[in-house]
Amino acid sequence: MVNLNIKYKNLIDYLKSEIPFEPEIAIILGSGLGDFAEQININKSISTSDIPGYPVSTVIGHKGKIHFAEYQGKKLILFQGRVHFYEGYDIDECVIPVFISSKLGADKLLLTNAAGGINKNFTPGDLMLITSFNGILIKKELTDLIGLTNPAAKNNFIHLPNPELNRKIKESAHSENIFLKEGVYFYTKGPSYETPAEINFIDKFGADAVGMSTVHEAVYAAFLGMKVSAVSCITNFAAGISIQKLSHSEVTETANRVKNTFAKLIKAVIKSI
Ligand code: HPA
Repeated sequence: MVNLNIKYKNLIDYLKSEIPFEPEIAIILGSGLGDFAEQININKSISTSDIPGYPVSTVIGHKGKIHFAEYQGKKLILFQGRVHFYEGYDIDECVIPVFISSKLGADKLLLTNAAGGINKNFTPGDLMLITSFNGILIKKELTDLIGLTNPAAKNNFIHLPNPELNRKIKESAHSENIFLKEGVYFYTKGPSYETPAEINFIDKFGADAVGMSTVHEAVYAAFLGMKVSAVSCITNFAAGISIQKLSHSEVTETANRVKNTFAKLIKAVIKSI
């Protein structure tokens, strides 16, 4: 178990000297969804490359910016881009946005991501509220991160996502006339997309969508005592669900196509929480 307070002391000290205010709500923007940051008033932006010790994202569509913004009187910290396990980073590096958000004062976290749709009723462009996370493939890393002997680690896994936040997200979607699907998000480590056989396998275990992020962030946020919920943008049919060949450009194109609906939902959620 790495002590993040020690490992990221310089990083947090630097950010504390730069921030315009203490944020209340943190939002991590997934693949192709970063444009949301351009739709609201930003007080200050920091490039993650200027932050000592911050890992650099290598994925197209992940900008590597942290924004401080205010919307409807709420103070926000927005992460435009994240780093992934498949880029070779350790789990404690992958949860840096969560650690930072909590250290700077945010107690609510909204996670967003791009995901492949497994549920046959899903189409690319749908938004899905995550009702449960399947992190079976990273249980070991998560336990290492939190500490095997830490009693708080035992239960935080299962009290996810936050029921009150999920209810508010559903109400927000309803009030904005956005049809929000619901389902289970299954984590895969990547870096390659899944094979049709792998999708068939996880389909049998109740997965509605698949992606390579979010679960560790949610678990770590709950461990730190944050209220956390997550919304996926279904950017493509998962492998084998359609005959179409999967590509990262399809992921970013779909996310781009629904960015206004996505922004409408996130704005309504911010207002309501
Ligand atoms: N699989 C895994 N991760 C993803 C996918 C997918 O089909 N789409 C977007 N992220």
